[in-house]
Amino acid sequence: MTIAPDFRLPQPAVMLALVFGIGLSFALNTQAAAATQVEISVDAFKTGAKIDRNIFGQFAEHLGHGIYEGIWVGPNSPIPNTRGIRNDVVTALKAIKVPNVRWPGGCFADEYHWRNGIGAQRVVTLNPNWGGVLEPNAFGTHEFMDFLDQIGADAYLSVNVGSGSPREAADWLEYLTASQPTTLAKERAANGHPNPYKVAQLGIGNESWDCGGNTTPDYYLSQLKIYSRFVRNFNPAQKDKEQMLKVAVGPGGGEPRWAEWTEAIMKAYQHHQWSWDIQGLSLHSYTVVRWPPAFKSMDFGEAEYAEILKSTLAMEDLINEHSAIMDRYDSDKKVGLIIDEWGAWYAPLPGSNPGFLVQQNSLRDAILAALNLNIFARHADRVRGANIAQMINVLQAMIMTNNEKMVLTPTYFVFKMYVPFQDATFVPVKFDAGTYTYDNINLPRIDAIAAKDNTGKLWLEITNVDPNESIDLEVSFSGLRAKSATGEVLTGPKVNSINTFDIPNTVVAKPMSLHVHGGKIALRVEPKSVTVVSVEQ
Ligand code: AHR
Repeated sequence: MTIAPDFRLPQPAVMLALVFGIGLSFALNTQAAAATQVEISVDAFKTGAKIDRNIFGQFAEHLGHGIYEGIWVGPNSPIPNTRGIRNDVVTALKAIKVPNVRWPGGCFADEYHWRNGIGAQRVVTLNPNWGGVLEPNAFGTHEFMDFLDQIGADAYLSVNVGSGSPREAADWLEYLTASQPTTLAKERAANGHPNPYKVAQLGIGNESWDCGGNTTPDYYLSQLKIYSRFVRNFNPAQKDKEQMLKVAVGPGGGEPRWAEWTEAIMKAYQHHQWSWDIQGLSLHSYTVVRWPPAFKSMDFGEAEYAEILKSTLAMEDLINEHSAIMDRYDSDKKVGLIIDEWGAWYAPLPGSNPGFLVQQNSLRDAILAALNLNIFARHADRVRGANIAQMINVLQAMIMTNNEKMVLTPTYFVFKMYVPFQDATFVPVKFDAGTYTYDNINLPRIDAIAAKDNTGKLWLEITNVDPNESIDLEVSFSGLRAKSATGEVLTGPKVNSINTFDIPNTVVAKPMSLHVHGGKIALRVEPKSVTVVSVEQ
């Protein structure tokens, strides 16, 4: 049994709640099949941390068709575009209010030289990490910033620590952000952008313990201090609350070496001098079960559904483990934990280039996304950013394209349904999650979070992990009386249902019916579904 952390009911109280709940199912007994009954209570008197909108961030690496074809088709393409950036993708991304995009990598970032991607003549290089293909550098700094402008997102730049230099990174930031007429600012103006750009977040390296150079924590720390000191943001509009957030490379798992990594960075942070600083520590964690990724992303069964979801819930332990270390050195929680690579990583689709990390995206991934977003929301006091890997055509993507065709994945619809949770204030919920069992795998049957947006409206999300059983929910509130409610549900015929270019509407969000009575809400959540409810009081 799982109860939302921090608000655990003592066991007898849970039992009472359950008994009480059975007596109160008022509106659903007219529906045909019997379903499990669960009571959720929302304590709207109590509020928690703000759910930073940056936890809904995206990651777009120069990898496979993530950038080229996914975003960039070039101005001469027959695919409708604005200055080379495809219009269909921009429209879709605007609808999910992407807060920030992490770019250009990933492993790619530590081999990226920004000068190759500016000006009229682009330098053609290679992409040795990802299939060894040609990198035309046609999508560079200005194209990325134009793309962000078109979708309304902030820049999260990863600078090259592995094979670059502090000077190269410092010059890039001066080129982007200087408002005074320095030679680099004039070069930026000559390339079409006289005004300084805003760079909201700066990642100092990527996985420096692995593809970013295989360094020790101490070596990385020495680099971090130098980059933090010299890679400056000169944009006069980025002062105080708008300051650029510097994110250090953090851990990549739960083993002792990762605890040592977090320990080393945070210990140094505790006594840091005025001359360097960080506001974030990154955490990378993929749902992969075994390495190399062997699970299929389509045509799988309930066993693989249960196993993957079981594995994804380890995110909770990982956050707890690293937050506890951070708490020891930063009790004021000045440094945010930024989970800037997460998501499901499956075997490459047969016939695809294995270096392109192409996989399908099913209803299972939608549920996986909701479970992770809920974990982040429950840890909103420390988790202040996250970037799902990756935005388009790579790993757990929002969008898949094939030439002029585009399809929105089940994961996309989860991000769309969660838009009201962006910058909303966490509100505690209590429920008895129950258990869904497959073979010897046990999972909490349901998960739920609630939050209040800045208009005071309450939002509730419920994930029914159980692929076979509906659940009749009765939602009661302290601190508000529900007058009306509307809801949307995302589900599909099977756990492995997908949207395709030809049949794009198999797993999409649909309106659902709810019953409001005596200030409470009754609803039936379908098996294997994600439901979001808005409550008017
Ligand atoms: O997202 C794919 C890769 O996974 C990234 O480039 C790297 O940072 C991670 O190992």
